[in-house]
Amino acid sequence: MNVRSPAGLPDEAVRIASIEKYRHRAAGYDATCGPTWPIRERTINLLDLRPGQAVLDVGCGTGLSLARLRECVGEAGQIHGFDQSPDMLKQARERVAAAGWQNVHLHETPAQGLFLPAPVDALLFHYTHDVLRSASAVERLLACARPGAAVAIAGIKYFPLWLAPLNIWVYFKNHGYNGAPGELRSPWDRIAPRLDGWRLTPTQYGMGYIASGRVRA
Ligand SMILES: C[S@@+](CC[C@H](N)C(=O)[O-])C[C@H]1O[C@@H](n2cnc3c(N)ncnc32)[C@H](O)[C@@H]1O
Repeated sequence: MNVRSPAGLPDEAVRIASIEKYRHRAAGYDATCGPTWPIRERTINLLDLRPGQAVLDVGCGTGLSLARLRECVGEAGQIHGFDQSPDMLKQARERVAAAGWQNVHLHETPAQGLFLPAPVDALLFHYTHDVLRSASAVERLLACARPGAAVAIAGIKYFPLWLAPLNIWVYFKNHGYNGAPGELRSPWDRIAPRLDGWRLTPTQYGMGYIASGRVRA
């Protein structure tokens, strides 16, 4: 697990920094997510989920995507969510218990150590920058999906060059949430080469992106 990120930080150091940040952020996290709700819906729609499918919510946090994912795959589907932050996952557990969802399975684990009982049909990465920057996490998650599985990603990135001065703000915004806050030029570059049919659309005037593809056979 002690692999280095491209910025030279060991995975373990990034993970510990992230867990600590979410210890403080977890309580107020949901209240910050209103503005990006349409992006969450667009990203989930890109998975083109069908009833009965199995989907993995990567770094599911407080579980804000779970209801929509469950709507898509129905009672016969399976939804797995995992997160390494006990503070975030506690809220996801409460959400699942309150709703009484029997087919939503939550796992408290780093991405780098996730094992599932069977390969999933789809992977959702919704604002999971640190996970995407870890080669070992990407490797492990792709191994949890069947060949051809749908992948949809949303996240933050640097503005294009003509808005470059604003990137100082983007860096510090990302710093509040991530253990590896830099690497925002092309945060998808560890996973994109592993997918077929890669498509990327900038969002939020260029400081965000939504992307999709399929796990290469
Ligand atoms: C910005 S939050 C997004 C949460 C959720 N996906 C959402 O859209 O609301 C990022 C989440 O990724 C989790 N995370 C970061 N690095 C991780 C890792 N290596 N393994 C598992 N979870 C990780 C954090 O604990 C946090 O809950």
